[in-house]
Amino acid sequence: MSRILVVGSSGTVGSALSALLSADGHEVRRATSGATNQSGQMHLNLLSGAGLQTAFDGVDSAFLLSPPGHTNQDALLGPLIEQARAQGVGKVVLMSAMGANADDNAPLRKAELHLQSSGLSWNVIRPNWFMQNFNSYWLQGIQQQGQILLPVGKAKGSFIDARDIAKVAAKLLTSSAFENAEFDLTGKEAFDHDQVATILSQAANRPIGYTDVSPEQMRQVLHDAGLPADYAEFLLLILGFFKLGYSERITDAVERITGLAPRSLAQYAQDYKASWK
Ligand SMILES: NC(=O)c1ccc[n+]([C@@H]2O[C@H](COP(=O)([O-])OP(=O)(O)OC[C@H]3O[C@@H](n4cnc5c(N)ncnc54)[C@H](OP(=O)(O)O)[C@@H]3O)[C@@H](O)[C@H]2O)c1
Repeated sequence: MSRILVVGSSGTVGSALSALLSADGHEVRRATSGATNQSGQMHLNLLSGAGLQTAFDGVDSAFLLSPPGHTNQDALLGPLIEQARAQGVGKVVLMSAMGANADDNAPLRKAELHLQSSGLSWNVIRPNWFMQNFNSYWLQGIQQQGQILLPVGKAKGSFIDARDIAKVAAKLLTSSAFENAEFDLTGKEAFDHDQVATILSQAANRPIGYTDVSPEQMRQVLHDAGLPADYAEFLLLILGFFKLGYSERITDAVERITGLAPRSLAQYAQDYKASWK
């Protein structure tokens, strides 16, 4: 049994990861920037640094992510990497994002490089766009207009189920089979958003379509949702990369690491159909 720190433990990937690790008998230190009212939780705020000094005490391995909404990922993650190094943590797994390594000056890439040169045992996982965005970030358009609203044309994405990312992370955190390696994580098939809309419609048994909105319309949607302007621009930038086809690539990493094929989009849609009813 290991003691494992999970940053973002209440989030989409972190909650699934924490559940998997606990079910396997590991002691999970669930970091949260909010109140700690459940057993196993600890307070850790990447913005203020609160909790940093003790977060890694007695920890065998740690899962790190940068919370969405911030574009200074290297500044947020750097102190964690340094603290992990100072305390001799056995392994650090960083969840980055597919495409982050295209530019060594991008903040998320700088965080990857920081970890990789830290002397720690590491893994970097770079998931493609999550399937779960359709039941979270893009949900409002589906609920209010019956439309996925995105500025990505007919480009395809090999969307990944966040539960498979968690499964990969759990394996990497508890095994030495894949030391110091980076993985781009994708689903097993790529779909454009008309195809996604059809799959969601079939599962939810209601018509859902896709509207290819302009970047300006998308900027307004993101603004209305209250996103910080710099993060909205970052999202528009990476949605532009999606439109150019950079999210279509399919890798076999999930199956190579976990021994199981990634979940299909149809399976995801079945499991989350209540979201779109
Ligand atoms: N969505 C995608 O398609 C996609 C694709 C590739 C990569 N990613 C990456 O995935 C990451 C997001 O993962 P996710 O979707 O699983 O997260 P999420 O569901 O958005 O949850 C974010 C987590 O961060 C924690 N958090 C927020 N502010 C914090 C702070 N100041 N200090 C410490 N923790 C804080 C939150 O917990 P508390 O509120 O309890 O603190 C929460 O557990 C991002 O780094 C993103 O770049 C996302």
